[in-house]
Amino acid sequence: MTEKLEQRHGENLYPVKFAAQFGDHELKLDVPEGIWNPTPHGVHLAHMLLDLDFSGENVLELGAGCGIHSILIARRGAARMTLTEIDAAICDNARHNVEKHEVRIPTDYVVADWMHVEGGPFDALVTNPPFAKSGKRYRRYFIDTLILDAHKLVRPGGRLVFVQSSMADIPRSLALMAENGMDVAIVGETDGPFRQYYFEDPTYMREMAAIPGSYSVRDGKHYERLIVFEARLPG
Ligand SMILES: C[S@@+](CC[C@H](N)C(=O)[O-])C[C@H]1O[C@@H](n2cnc3c(N)ncnc32)[C@H](O)[C@@H]1O
Repeated sequence: MTEKLEQRHGENLYPVKFAAQFGDHELKLDVPEGIWNPTPHGVHLAHMLLDLDFSGENVLELGAGCGIHSILIARRGAARMTLTEIDAAICDNARHNVEKHEVRIPTDYVVADWMHVEGGPFDALVTNPPFAKSGKRYRRYFIDTLILDAHKLVRPGGRLVFVQSSMADIPRSLALMAENGMDVAIVGETDGPFRQYYFEDPTYMREMAAIPGSYSVRDGKHYERLIVFEARLPG
């Protein structure tokens, strides 16, 4: 492998043809170099979306990446979607995959920095927020701002749906959602094997070791817990 491609693997931005079955839905996604390659987090969220009903809803997805979740949100009945990403090339790739899967509902593709999105209020906000590769000194930045600012984008009584790892401190998110008056349900939980790039970042491994219950080791293999939350905003 070339040095550049090795680096892209480490950043999880390598090109791949991603094919997977989610319930009755067969997804075949084109993920070029530079676009986030779906991980166990995104795959778990995709499975859990099948248990949620978005019928008639106006849904916002933040950091849509290759569009894996947007396609399923549409298949679960959304009436309208807004997808955001941090740059235009990623938005274009999401559009490519959404259109390839024959999503027909009105869909807006918006370049926006996290919660700084025009429009709304939305009925639901769905996301797999950056964490391990958040690029922030304060790694939980995207999770905390998501919870704190959800009311600016989601209507009263609407839903925030997101996946997070035990590595990102689940009790802390639960406390923050409760402090913000949200009524939280766990849609589903699973174990995810560590990504190779965790081991390549000693700072990350040290930070994770400081969070009680952040991971487990069984038969020499490291696992994190992956949880999908459905948080109902106060009405
Ligand atoms: C964990 S990935 C999830 C991608 C996709 N939803 C998935 O699950 O495969 C987080 C995504 O957020 C995007 N992102 C990073 N910083 C962002 C920001 N400030 N505003 C919007 N999106 C951002 C990244 O480009 C990336 O696609």
